[in-house]
Amino acid sequence: MKQIVVLTGAGMSAESGIRTFRDSNGLWEEYDVMEVASIEGWRKNPELMLRFYNERRKQMYECLPNKGHLLLAEMEKDFDVKIVTQNVDNLHERAGSTHIIHLHGELSKARSSVDPNHIYDIGDKAINPGDKCEKGSQLRPHIVWFGEEVPAMEEAVKIVESADILCIIGTSLNVYPAAGLLHYAPYGCPIYLIDPNPPFDLPKRVQVIAKGAGAGVEELVKRVKQV
Ligand code: OAD
Repeated sequence: MKQIVVLTGAGMSAESGIRTFRDSNGLWEEYDVMEVASIEGWRKNPELMLRFYNERRKQMYECLPNKGHLLLAEMEKDFDVKIVTQNVDNLHERAGSTHIIHLHGELSKARSSVDPNHIYDIGDKAINPGDKCEKGSQLRPHIVWFGEEVPAMEEAVKIVESADILCIIGTSLNVYPAAGLLHYAPYGCPIYLIDPNPPFDLPKRVQVIAKGAGAGVEELVKRVKQV
């Protein structure tokens, strides 16, 4: 089976009702990214960050996977589909995809604030001030914040390096190291990008499908059948 590697960003979940970050009405218009998504923010005001992610977690469970998520899961019948997502939601899982790497963490998990290896499934539960890990330290969201390393990056690079086909969906390609992953695609590997407002300055080999995730993945399915 051919291996399709799919890099997804916030636009993947937009049609499920989850706000992106940098579009108009994006989350970073309402919130200061450094206050709610950086390690400095956590040190300064952990209560605010807990509230912010509790709200995101609650909203995530009010949303459903969209047509794009569902079609990617269905593609596993014909392809070895590997998803590398910047999204912290669990919509790829809930759509039925089975190979998913979360570069920026997962809302449905909490972890110790002193030992990143103590990770707990919390589903839709809130994390409150005073909730502690077994070592006695405050629990925090299992999210990679600005100023922190991206532990899954090495594995993600290997996956992209082994792609037969690469597809990028719904990311402004603003945030590194994730945005650099496309450059690891092997020579000759077709690269598709699905986004109604594609980023500028894409490498020449990228074939743009200027559509939303649902219609875009539908088009992708047609195109990859011919590769
Ligand atoms: P952005 O908000 O930067 O970009 C979203 C992209 O989705 C844009 O290029 C939009 O044009 C596109 N888009 C909007 N609607 C779409 C639709 N219906 N279908 C497909 N695409 C659509 O989000 P990311 O690139 O994912 O990190 O942001 C990267 C990281 O920045 C996030 O993981 C988050 C954020 O700060 C952290 O918080 C650590």
